[in-house]
Amino acid sequence: MRVLLTGGLGYIGSHTAIALSAAGHHVLIVDDLSNSHREVIDRIEALSGCTMPLLVADVRDEVALLGFLHDHGEVDVAIHFAGLKAVAESVANPERYYDVNIGTTLALLRAMEAHGIADLVFSSSATVYGSSKSVPHTEASSVGTGIANPYGKTKHMIEEILRDACAANPDLRTTALRYFNPVGAHPSGMIGENPRGFPNNLMPIVAGVATGERDEVTVFGHDYSTPDGSGVRDYIHVQDLARGHVLAAEYKSKGFEAINLGSGVPSSVLDLIRAYQEVSGRNIPYSLASRRPGDVAVSYADVVKAERVLGWKAEHTLLEACRDDWAWQQATARKPLP
Ligand code: NAD
Ligand code: UD1
Repeated sequence: MRVLLTGGLGYIGSHTAIALSAAGHHVLIVDDLSNSHREVIDRIEALSGCTMPLLVADVRDEVALLGFLHDHGEVDVAIHFAGLKAVAESVANPERYYDVNIGTTLALLRAMEAHGIADLVFSSSATVYGSSKSVPHTEASSVGTGIANPYGKTKHMIEEILRDACAANPDLRTTALRYFNPVGAHPSGMIGENPRGFPNNLMPIVAGVATGERDEVTVFGHDYSTPDGSGVRDYIHVQDLARGHVLAAEYKSKGFEAINLGSGVPSSVLDLIRAYQEVSGRNIPYSLASRRPGDVAVSYADVVKAERVLGWKAEHTLLEACRDDWAWQQATARKPLP
């Protein structure tokens, strides 16, 4: 198949590009480099042994996108990774988040219609479950209530837009993959999470302490009703996510469908710190602090649907994700290509 990846040079997109190529698919990428680096294409091509056409442009630049699709022949499936994802920034600048996240989705839908592309896979998030306490979250759990920030709201709104678009157009098939907490890196150490700004998700912060860039981890919350009092999440190896995207791209959904991609294993903040400490052999000091506003105590996935519908199940453990992330941090993270 020929697969268009918007945001294909980003963290999850770059791993997916390699996985798609390994599965025999042809990959085309559009990315505006707003949160990625041009050299990632060299690394993806080196690791996959394939050339991938790249358009450096905003997905909302419809002239550029249509021209790219016209020049590179038919596309069977689009995977829409492109978007902004920094939660705190979305609180400070909500208009930008609604503009980019929703605007790219609408522009992509128009381009798909113009080029007869019927299948879409969308990067949704467990954030759509908001304050729902029905853990593990199944795809039937309530969504949209208590979402604490504009970033999360855009994910819920986009799901609704795609549901309506599928209802109006029986030819359109959309799978919204609700990722839980993506972590880890490619086992080669050549690609991993490398955002332009400062990360505010847990693993890159823990990694920063292990590498000596930060002094300690601040653990937000130690009085939750969880086994050790810290917050509990479902950390999913990015390589497992990438494989999930290959299967979702090959799957023909019935109209709009949402599918969780998580490990199904609940792990606490302190579990992650301990695992990273073990693989890195570095001491990772932490201090206990008050809860972060907007956080839920526990979030993890019910993964029955992914296995039933896609035949997908996470294969990697949190320890393996920490090991691969540590290899990436030591080898090439934030350094130019050798
Ligand atoms: P990322 O920032 O690494 O990748 C996104 C890519 O999209 C970047 O390369 C960026 O340059 C590009 N991009 C942004 N705006 C664009 C635009 N207007 N036009 C073209 N390209 C644009 O993020 P990621 O972690 O790989 O996440 C991919 C998707 O998955 C995002 O939609 C994100 O919201 C979603 N998601 C991520 C997580 C996570 O924790 N990483 C969790 C749930 C959902
Ligand atoms: C965050 C976002 C969510 C997004 C998800 C995946 C918020 C409120 N939510 O969720 O919208 O979809 O990432 O990208 O930001 N933690 C610490 N110290 C830190 C950082 C985090 O203790 O310095 C804790 C958090 O309190 C939480 C856990 O680590 O218990 C995971 O945090 P994080 O990586 O930010 O992910 P989420 O909270 O799940």
